[in-house]
Amino acid sequence: MNITVEKFSANHLEHIAAIHSVVNDGWSAQGLADDIKNDSTHSFVAVADGRAVAFCSYLVTFDAELIFVCTHPDMRGHGIAAKLLTETMNSLPEGITTVVLEVRSKNEPALALYNKLGFEKLGLRKNFYSNPQDDAVVMEKTI
Ligand SMILES: CC(C)(COP(=O)(O)OP(=O)(O)OC[C@H]1O[C@@H](n2cnc3c(N)ncnc32)[C@H](O)[C@@H]1OP(=O)(O)O)[C@@H](O)C(=O)NCCC(=O)NCCS
Repeated sequence: MNITVEKFSANHLEHIAAIHSVVNDGWSAQGLADDIKNDSTHSFVAVADGRAVAFCSYLVTFDAELIFVCTHPDMRGHGIAAKLLTETMNSLPEGITTVVLEVRSKNEPALALYNKLGFEKLGLRKNFYSNPQDDAVVMEKTI
């Protein structure tokens, strides 16, 4: 499968909305659209055969905070999120050398993904998430 990674733009909104229609996980296509106008938020998509099938966003402050990553359920298990995050982290703004994130302690696919990409566990935030209640694992990677 030929996957390319592109900066998120309005052209991808329809495909991202299609992902949102099957995955409703605390993000929205409109929220991503708003992020295009926010200089601190950087969003990227993975495109397969002209279709955006995964996306990720990070917020830049003094480091980069990964806000979310999501692959269309039909496209999971093909290395798409790994490629998307790897390329995204290879093009961080100048001077940004650390990526941090929080992930549900029960989200095994995401934990495995972040471990594979070299993130290290910094600590745990007890009961950080609700609906359902879960701890947050805080992870960090130095680029
Ligand atoms: C987590 C998620 C982004 C992974 O996307 P993906 O494109 O399927 O991931 P990849 O195919 O690139 O997998 C890369 C690595 O992640 C891990 N992984 C991915 N899916 C996994 C699963 N179901 N079980 C265990 N490990 C998994 C593996 O280590 C895998 O490497 P491997 O194939 O060499 O074993 C996807 O499952 C998803 O969108 N989940 C819902 C949203 C979410 O939970 N996002 C993270 C929190 S914001």
